[in-house]
Amino acid sequence: MENFVAYNPTKLHFGKDVTDILGKTIEKFGKRVLLVYGGGSIKNNGIYDKIISQLKSIDARIFEYQGIKPNPVYEDVDAAAKLGRDNNVDVILAVGGGSVIDSAKIISITIPVNNTCWDFYENKIKPQKAIPVISVLTLAATGTEMNPYAVLQNNKTKQKWGYGNDLLYLKHSFLDPQNTFTVPKNYTAYGITDLIAHCLEAYFGKGDASLSDSFVYAIIKEAIKYGPPLLDDLQNYDLRAKIMYAATAALNRTTLYGRVSGDWGVHSIGHVLSLLYDIPHGASLSIAYPAWLKFQKNNIPDRIAELGKNIFNVNTPDETITAFEAFFKSIECPLKLSDIGIEKNNKQIIFDGMISNKVTGMNHKLNPEDYEKLIDLMLSPL
Ligand code: NZQ
Ligand code: ZN
Repeated sequence: MENFVAYNPTKLHFGKDVTDILGKTIEKFGKRVLLVYGGGSIKNNGIYDKIISQLKSIDARIFEYQGIKPNPVYEDVDAAAKLGRDNNVDVILAVGGGSVIDSAKIISITIPVNNTCWDFYENKIKPQKAIPVISVLTLAATGTEMNPYAVLQNNKTKQKWGYGNDLLYLKHSFLDPQNTFTVPKNYTAYGITDLIAHCLEAYFGKGDASLSDSFVYAIIKEAIKYGPPLLDDLQNYDLRAKIMYAATAALNRTTLYGRVSGDWGVHSIGHVLSLLYDIPHGASLSIAYPAWLKFQKNNIPDRIAELGKNIFNVNTPDETITAFEAFFKSIECPLKLSDIGIEKNNKQIIFDGMISNKVTGMNHKLNPEDYEKLIDLMLSPL
């Protein structure tokens, strides 16, 4: 087992009606609030009204930035940061899924500087301080609600990258499973795939950590057991709660302690697919993970077989991969690029995207020769 530091300062409020104390919690940081949200789902499902009444209860001055896109872009972050800077906000309230919360995290470090936020991604500057961020999560998937990462894309340079810094931890994170009741079936399934993929990225990371492996098995089993019934009963509180907690645990470092790092090679492939074709993050992963497992099955057969044994009670790498594919298929996630309308003539475009994003894993390195094989496997799985 590797040395590790455990640190997670986010105060997580989990359960029914936890946002009843949202106003009071925000007030501790100030009354000038930058409210950040996405394309309008919170207005359709009533969450917006509840948030506004919490803010009104403390006489907050509200500055709204609406319109963060799924697969968020750096231009929105810069524009929202300007709004926050011009109005001298005390605190940021992010209400949404991973795209909104990731954007809010980067807004929080961009407000204090005069740079574009992309300069953080290119390591041209380092953040020195952050405006406090509080979030209300509305979609279970990414784990951003309790981790220090944020993913943004730059359509000009054709890059979708992750960024990590301890300043990005949220001060408070509100998780009421009821706020996920209206997430449609497809996005609920993508969230389940995403949380499984986070566990796999940890499992295939560097370093031997048996207890962290056991957390991986437990979280994936939870998703496999409770995900399918949830898809048939989208407003079931207990099932929503189980998946929501599983998604948080899958990427709040619980599965990483004792390792040098996760791998993240599949995520970097998925980011290229989302960047090029604007596909939901989870859908990119149900295509990329089986391809990566097939590509690696002769390099790390024992590790893949051990995973299959512990999760599906199967014995070989092939049986493990088949079991994952069957699960993703059962929840109607795509397994190959043609399932989302991407045909063979896109090979070069994807290859170029992988080159410009320097796709690789932290443990299992990938090079351009590997890219070709991986793209073939995503196009025509054997
Ligand atoms: O735009 P809005 O109105 O918010 O609608 C969203 C969006 O259309 C909708 N939605 C969210 N909550 C809803 C809802 N619809 C109905 N009812 C609700 N309660 O769902 C759509 C997708 O939302 P989005 O926030 O994009 O999804 P997700 O949470 O999967 O976030 C994806 C982003 O997170 C990044 C991904 O790369 C992607 O950019 N990730 C962030 C990570 C992190 N910070 O740790 C790790 C992940 O691996 C991932 O890379
Ligand atoms: Zn992910």
